[in-house]
Amino acid sequence: MLIPHPAELTAGTGHFTFDPETRIVATNAAERKLAGLLTEKLSRAAGFSPRLETRAPRRNFLRFTTDDSLPPEAYTLEISEKSIELRAGAYAGLVHGLQTIRQLLPPAIEGNRVQAGVSWQIPSLRIRDEPRFPWRGLMLDVSRHFFGKDYVLATLDRMALFKLNTLHLHLVDDQGWRLEIKGYPRLTEVGAYRVDQEDRHWDARLKNGPADEATYGDFYTQEDIREIVAYARDRGITVVPEIEMPAHVMSALAAYPEFSCHGEPIAVPSGGVWPITDIYCPGKEATFGFLEEVLLEVMELFPSRYLHVGGDEATRTNWEVCEDCQRRMREEGLESTAELQSYFIRRMERFVSAHGRVLIGWDEILEGGLAPGAAVMSWRGTEGGWEASRAGHDVVMTPGDYVYLNQYQGDPDYEPLAFGGYVPLSKVYSFDPLVDSMSTEQQRHVLGGQANLWSEFIADVAGSEYMLYPRLAALAEVLWTPRAAQRWERFSGQLPELFGRLEAMGVNYSRSAYAVTAASELSAEKDRIRVALQSEVAGADIRYALGEEALTAASRPYTTPLELDRTTTVRAAVFADGQPAGDPLTKTFTFHRAVGKPVAYAPVYHAQYPGREDIGLVNILRGSKNFHDGQWQGWLVDDVTLTIDLDEVVTVSSVAVGTMENQGSGIFFPQGVKVAVSTDGVTYQRVGEYARDYARSGEVRLDAFAIEFAPRPVRYLRIAVDNLGHPPQGGSAWMFLDEVIVK
Ligand code: ACM
Ligand code: ZN
Repeated sequence: MLIPHPAELTAGTGHFTFDPETRIVATNAAERKLAGLLTEKLSRAAGFSPRLETRAPRRNFLRFTTDDSLPPEAYTLEISEKSIELRAGAYAGLVHGLQTIRQLLPPAIEGNRVQAGVSWQIPSLRIRDEPRFPWRGLMLDVSRHFFGKDYVLATLDRMALFKLNTLHLHLVDDQGWRLEIKGYPRLTEVGAYRVDQEDRHWDARLKNGPADEATYGDFYTQEDIREIVAYARDRGITVVPEIEMPAHVMSALAAYPEFSCHGEPIAVPSGGVWPITDIYCPGKEATFGFLEEVLLEVMELFPSRYLHVGGDEATRTNWEVCEDCQRRMREEGLESTAELQSYFIRRMERFVSAHGRVLIGWDEILEGGLAPGAAVMSWRGTEGGWEASRAGHDVVMTPGDYVYLNQYQGDPDYEPLAFGGYVPLSKVYSFDPLVDSMSTEQQRHVLGGQANLWSEFIADVAGSEYMLYPRLAALAEVLWTPRAAQRWERFSGQLPELFGRLEAMGVNYSRSAYAVTAASELSAEKDRIRVALQSEVAGADIRYALGEEALTAASRPYTTPLELDRTTTVRAAVFADGQPAGDPLTKTFTFHRAVGKPVAYAPVYHAQYPGREDIGLVNILRGSKNFHDGQWQGWLVDDVTLTIDLDEVVTVSSVAVGTMENQGSGIFFPQGVKVAVSTDGVTYQRVGEYARDYARSGEVRLDAFAIEFAPRPVRYLRIAVDNLGHPPQGGSAWMFLDEVIVK
């Protein structure tokens, strides 16, 4: 396994074997440090540790050479039966070459116990390698949930394995301040703790008062940070701290309310807050004094060239009514609070650059103009990055649709609760930080890309690992390997080996890439459906079973789409080595009386959510928890009445309306469904109704509102579905329907 794939690789014959007689040739302190990374693993897993020498013996050695004619992250590796020669431009390149050696060794090298009977050999080959981009990052959100020092160290070791070189720590957010600041001890005494509501969905947590007992939380001491930074440096990784401003700082304002506009005490919130109006007051000079002192301590701890100041998602309503903010605007000739925000960030940029560092922030910092030297992290798609690079700023691309790893990597029905969205492994692999429409000059400003792991829905290490692996490996390859050498088939073909290595490392990785998904279409005659089974992984062995049949490795292999003409349950899985390689899929396709029949809408569905248009509610195909999946029809505020003509009088005894709720996205269950039936299309009789009270919820839920009645002859159905209209929390309600099932 080699991930990321090297720029150039030539296979040789034979192999080199590490044994107790192997020597490592290191001639300076950096090379000796590097040797330590390998000898530590060998002594733990192999039970021997190669001696260091300054001169090469005749054979059986690994030699490091620093050669400053090579770029700092580039390396060459020559492996023969006799020796391994690793040559690099600087320490970073040597680390990368060493990680290549690590990946070529058996997965047992990752183990924590001495393993007998392993041959510690690696194949002869030549590699010439260097990265496509200089910024290959991962952001960990340690605010929404805290992740301790040991997990950060373990993550650094895994990042190094994949040649990632930037760890961005999101240390500050509303729900927790995670960094000890000596000059402002309340930032962690108060700001690092919140009321424990971990038993509730993030978006359904209750508002806290400042006097409530706050027990959930933790933070990094400055000693922890020094250890993290040093551990990262030894692995060629830079740690970039993010100190959010002006918004996402309720934890700081809970500790020091004097830096807000209103100065009133607030609590550290336990869960989601939207919109974010409790933000720093740029009208008060003291706010800048505070932030500068905080940043001085931060710069002391983190030697990184870049300092991240956040800058996203500020709602400035308090600034509009704050006397201090209004005075600042008059004095500075600022026309709007948007300009005041730009003033805020420019002022911080002057401070940061005066200390020899480069300010970076989320793409909102572009709004209203940005100091020329500042850099931008583009998260709202790639537009921010495009604009910033055109304006001459360096950019790091982190578009949500490709690299927000807090989103689902498989069907939400089978996955742990996540933020939403859908970013499967192959989507990450398709990421390119360079946007086609960028000029060459713009592309030169793209430093690289980064995966962001927001932790609202990730409360522990196992959950974090599950979201990171293997997607982080895909990200690493697209940021390192030349675009022309990127191949999904090769990458996905290495998953078994990658999983074996992650297993040996004790990582809770996800097998979702091996899940089977079903795509289905109603036939033109509207009497059958075609069901196509797919796996992301090229050439996967999909087996399926129908109805009550058991699903085993001996089940029918899937080759062409299945044709179904009656209610059928399909089970399917990718099989490898006689076992399901991912979660088996179970899906029931329900045929019913209304399939393919004409539906009259009053009013018609919203243009944004037409589903499959006129056939959408009677096409057998159901929607998933992803409301963008093309199966959902939506109505905004409006109620809808559906009239279905069954073509002939038949016996009917139940009607069910498939619907979803996703309150975080403004989608609410209907308030009720009323069903009336008719044989002549003129006189209708009410046969039943279903009512449901509104209840606040943070979950995404699918449900069918079912109405049963005594069997009766029916040709026409009139189904009235009531939208919640305006939810108590404000705004307008979407109502989503996917199928009307008539039996
Ligand atoms: C962000 O996701 N708010 C940067
Ligand atoms: Zn103010």
